Amino acid sequence: MTAGGDASPQLTFTNHLGPDDVALALRADVASGLAAEPKRIPPKWFYDETGSELFDKITRLDEYYPTEAERSALQANADEIVALSGADTVLELGSGSSDKTRTLLDSFAKAGRLRGYVPFDVSGSALRAAAVELVRRYPSMRLDAVVGDFDRHLHLLPTTGRRLLAFLGGTIGNYEHGARSRLLRSIADTLRSGETFLLGTDLVKDADRLVSAYDDSAGVTAAFNKNVLAVVNRELRADFDLDSFDHVARWNADEEWIEMWLRSTAQQVVTVADLDLAVRFAEGEEMLTEISAKFRREGVESELAAVGLELIGWWTDPDGDYAISLSRKP
Ligand code: AVJ
Repeated sequence: MTAGGDASPQLTFTNHLGPDDVALALRADVASGLAAEPKRIPPKWFYDETGSELFDKITRLDEYYPTEAERSALQANADEIVALSGADTVLELGSGSSDKTRTLLDSFAKAGRLRGYVPFDVSGSALRAAAVELVRRYPSMRLDAVVGDFDRHLHLLPTTGRRLLAFLGGTIGNYEHGARSRLLRSIADTLRSGETFLLGTDLVKDADRLVSAYDDSAGVTAAFNKNVLAVVNRELRADFDLDSFDHVARWNADEEWIEMWLRSTAQQVVTVADLDLAVRFAEGEEMLTEISAKFRREGVESELAAVGLELIGWWTDPDGDYAISLSRKP
């Protein structure tokens, strides 16, 4: 990977997660979530191999518009984003396979300003799978992959270059108000003066379209939702019966977010052997598995302003379904 005489390699990996960190976090989340009222399991646990495949299928459904809308907004405006950002280094939170980022990296490369890319993800295998091809595609760019949890390790990101921090995919929607402002604050704190933040947000729209995006007719989202029970069964030796829970997707108009729930179709007791736990579900009882908040321009602008970031760009897809914003630390 290193050119002759060059002291710094083109490709590095840094891991901030200990071998048991992920397993311990799942244990803690399930223990507290099953004791809560209403019961809950956080959405970060959807994404085992099966869950990631199901999510990938969701993104190709006609009813699920956000992925395509984000791609089109990014594609049409990437050159302007690159110019406005003044950056030469891209940091990406939750980069996964780095698919959508390629559009952005291409524009940076075309402008002759692509110095480094720092994909940051909880999954080392996703990073490794993407890295080899990225290095080949952008031979003069440094790639410093970081494995970590962006609720804890943001301050450990590399500081080289003038950075644009990208958080795409609409994942910010998974955060409730308090957690969201904490995350935005730590993003703002990570940036230096003149650096920028690129954020993807799904927008408030007609409730029927929103609900069909999260309750598709082919049942892929239902399978995705129930898969979290299979994750807990496997990882914590639980005995959730996936057939005795129904998928529920609901628009919460007051909060302006979609909620996904799993509704117990019978009274039942579920055991979680690794937690020494027996948990009772009433018939019809619902357990919260995800919120997906939808945004308005004013709200995004004021949440960014609240952490000291100035909105300098706002783009949507042609239908106005999804927005990409660029903000700057003064
Ligand atoms: C990956 C969090 C953006 O909220 O739309 C898709 C996840 N859940 N269908 C979203 C999801 C159900 C997705 N995010």
